[in-house]
Amino acid sequence: MAAVERLPTCLKQQVSLRARLNYGVVRLVETGFDMMANEGAQTFQSICCTDPVLPADTIRPHIQPIYATSTFVYPPPDEAIQVFEEVKERPYLYNRWGTPNSHLVEKKLAALEGFPDRSGSSPLQLEAVLFSSGMAAISSLFLSLGLRPGDAIVTQGNIYGTTTEFLDVMVTPLGVRVIYGELQDLDWVEMQFRQNKVRLLYMESPTNATSRCCDIRTLAALAHAYGAKAAVDSTLATPYLQRPFFLGVDFVVHSATKFLNGHSNSLTGVVIGKDAAFMKTEMWRMRKLLGGCAGSFDAWLLNMGLKTLPMRMERHCANAMTIATALERHEEVKCVRYLGLPSHSDHAVAKRQMKAFGGVLSFEVRGGRDAAVGVLRLLRRCTMTATLGAMDTLVQHPALMTHIKVPKEQRERHGISDDLLRVSVGIEDPEEVIADLTQALEASAPRRLSAVRGVSGVPV
Ligand SMILES: Cc1ncc(COP(=O)(O)O)c(C=O)c1O
Repeated sequence: MAAVERLPTCLKQQVSLRARLNYGVVRLVETGFDMMANEGAQTFQSICCTDPVLPADTIRPHIQPIYATSTFVYPPPDEAIQVFEEVKERPYLYNRWGTPNSHLVEKKLAALEGFPDRSGSSPLQLEAVLFSSGMAAISSLFLSLGLRPGDAIVTQGNIYGTTTEFLDVMVTPLGVRVIYGELQDLDWVEMQFRQNKVRLLYMESPTNATSRCCDIRTLAALAHAYGAKAAVDSTLATPYLQRPFFLGVDFVVHSATKFLNGHSNSLTGVVIGKDAAFMKTEMWRMRKLLGGCAGSFDAWLLNMGLKTLPMRMERHCANAMTIATALERHEEVKCVRYLGLPSHSDHAVAKRQMKAFGGVLSFEVRGGRDAAVGVLRLLRRCTMTATLGAMDTLVQHPALMTHIKVPKEQRERHGISDDLLRVSVGIEDPEEVIADLTQALEASAPRRLSAVRGVSGVPV
């Protein structure tokens, strides 16, 4: 007990608490204490680098702490070896394998995607794997399927630009045929299934930038009829507005960087699947091998954002409807694409499969690309940035920013025109946003008209 006397006060308290309660103080403390008992007093340096650990039952944080550690103390060797051999379920070992922070949001996101659509029906048992970004999640999904030369993926021509770039730069060179088209054209989709060895139907609904929406239930059934898997990028909807597993898909991916986090302060992505065995082996292995694991702080921030998801989404949707309606009346706006507007070609499908129409809209500015860039330049209240799903309203030019790597011809065929601006509507007062967009549209119009009339010195 002499060694105990030499302990710092905080450790002495732990030891006496342990003796009193016969409480198994966290193993690190035991190790530390045993080491001191065996080897005498700690050196100054060993006190510096060994952490005293407080008894677990005195620590009851209201919010899960951020596990700012890259690794975890292993269980006893026999058990640890079994974990490496994958004989035994893995506890936390090393962050690339998973952390308490990522695990918590995985559980939450799986429960949200599996939350019953109708009262009385049962929740779906789903598995989620959290990644370091939406792109890490999406690329891991594609790579987890073991695609071989001669296989095909059918998708839309207007999915997120970097997803298109990944398919073109990383998947096509594997000998996999990536077929872009309009998933609204079911005859075209079926023809692709008949003529190709399609392994995956990849949807994005609603699409980032053009707000297209496809009939997920019909398309998933079609994919299954031809032995393919169906996946949907549901980033713009979130599980609050749309739950594609109830429409029959096999996988849902999200850039959780967007509305799920909601505060523009964390980068994460997730793949959710209904085949638990596949998710726990193949998908989890993708993260372990490729290293696209979310940092604990990012996962923690995502969890903070998830707490207010329903309230935020209600407000994003209401504001987007108000702003879309105002833009539709503006004479400098050629057309507005918002799923909530009856004028949108996919309004009926969206109404059927979504709870509301989301927080993203886009509009075409009269006067082409320069007029659209002019509006961006003149915005005062809205922020120009390429992300979406933040608290405040963000505006960007898809053809010149998020979708610049999509071949121009493909962009134009699928509605990502040069005069298109995308608005990620925030939760601020929508009248302020309307006022800002209106002043920018009006301030850019006279310049444009003057330039057309040949007035010199007017920037366009
Ligand atoms: C629809 C969609 N999917 C995926 C991504 C990629 O997500 P991340 O930026 O988190 O990698 C984005 C990003 O904007 C997106 O809008």
